[in-house]
Amino acid sequence: MNILLLGSGGREHALAWKLASSALTDRLICAPGNAGMAREAECMALDLTDHAAVIALCKTHKIDFVVVGPEGPLVAGVVDDLEAAGFRTFGPMKSAAQLEGSKGFTKDLCRANNIPTAAYERFTSAEPAKAYARKQGMPIVIKADGLAAGKGVIIPQDLTEAEAAIDMMFAGGLGAAGAEVVIEEFLVGEEASFFALCDGETALPFASAQDHKRVGDGDTGPNTGGMGAYSPAPVMTPEMTARTMSEIIVPTMRAMKAMGAPFKGVLFAGLMITKDGPKLIEYNVRFGDPETQVLMLRLMSDLLPALIASRDGQLKSFDLRWYPDAALTVVMAANGYPGDYKRGSVIEGLDAAGEIEGVEIFHAGTKADGGRITSNGGRVLDVTARGKTVSEAQARAYQAIDRIKWPEGFCRRDIGWQAVKREKA
Ligand SMILES: Nc1ncnc2c1ncn2[C@@H]1O[C@H](COP(=O)(O)OP(=O)(O)O)[C@@H](O)[C@H]1O
Ligand SMILES: [Mg+2]
Repeated sequence: MNILLLGSGGREHALAWKLASSALTDRLICAPGNAGMAREAECMALDLTDHAAVIALCKTHKIDFVVVGPEGPLVAGVVDDLEAAGFRTFGPMKSAAQLEGSKGFTKDLCRANNIPTAAYERFTSAEPAKAYARKQGMPIVIKADGLAAGKGVIIPQDLTEAEAAIDMMFAGGLGAAGAEVVIEEFLVGEEASFFALCDGETALPFASAQDHKRVGDGDTGPNTGGMGAYSPAPVMTPEMTARTMSEIIVPTMRAMKAMGAPFKGVLFAGLMITKDGPKLIEYNVRFGDPETQVLMLRLMSDLLPALIASRDGQLKSFDLRWYPDAALTVVMAANGYPGDYKRGSVIEGLDAAGEIEGVEIFHAGTKADGGRITSNGGRVLDVTARGKTVSEAQARAYQAIDRIKWPEGFCRRDIGWQAVKREKA
């Protein structure tokens, strides 16, 4: 089959690495791709917001199956347009992508179907939102309704900050994403990411992971797109997974089908594991980044037939096999990230780093510059390793990192610390 993968980050490099190894793949094209993905596939320039151009590329290269990486094109309806043009595509239609595209939509769906989540209200103007925040008191969580690239959630220290956040959103500080606002209860517990593969009818538990959002060691400093992750998440015991499926994922699938928007693709539940059990923080409608990097290292089965079964509504009798191992990824970012940073510095030692047992290096933001690899983004590399335990995977990842020569970059040195602490105890 001729496969087209849309996207250009570390998530897509990990997907490309796995798809390239599929028995069904004859040709893999990544658009736009990056320097690392060019090792697994052919990369082609493409503007993902131009759906006509995406369809034209599919026609030119006789694409049999399309895999969409990022949320932007999904929420913009790229699957609807590709399917209408006759190209089978993995991922949700626009109507189902609302689960990520509108936090208010998901909150209403939870309320209507008794899915455990934080208590909330939705607002379309500042004054009622502020009155509600005052009435609820601290702590509280303020969220822009739409896609905000990880910048749409504010947990204020006090009411003054809460009111400032509300004003900022309604003043257009986050663009159209902040035209509506959700204010919700602050949940206490341990966070986990849970992934289920869905075909509109059936949801197949995929895997769990935990990530590190803060830029600094000890989970300090500003939020980022994610500085590392590991899988499985120790907190997702078989019992917690079963509860997540029956209390959250299955009722969501049922409700989406009932409203004529069946969910196909990968449903990524951001969970808070509270003393009362799992509660839904949010849904994403695509694979996580950097969680996918660790999931792909743990997945033994061929990924492509699973994605095709999701598209074709054939997951009911499907089975996936996993290595019993853990996996961990450490993000290497450009100095200054998540603030201002420079592009174009040279990265050396990648081949030597990749020789460490169990290690795969996925590129998140790189460019080939002659024979050299240069940085081309904030998050630049995902140094990923498998091991019998999280501790072993962590040791291997850092051994690889110590072989990478990139003075203009940095990483956290403690990715996986909670799981390593648990393993030691
Ligand atoms: N109700 C809540 N209680 C406590 N923390 C929350 C709550 N909602 C969100 N958070 C925190 O904020 C982060 C981002 O929120 P989320 O809804 O996942 O938005 P996004 O990923 O789109 O930025 C979460 O990972 C979590 O750490
Ligand atoms: Mg989130």
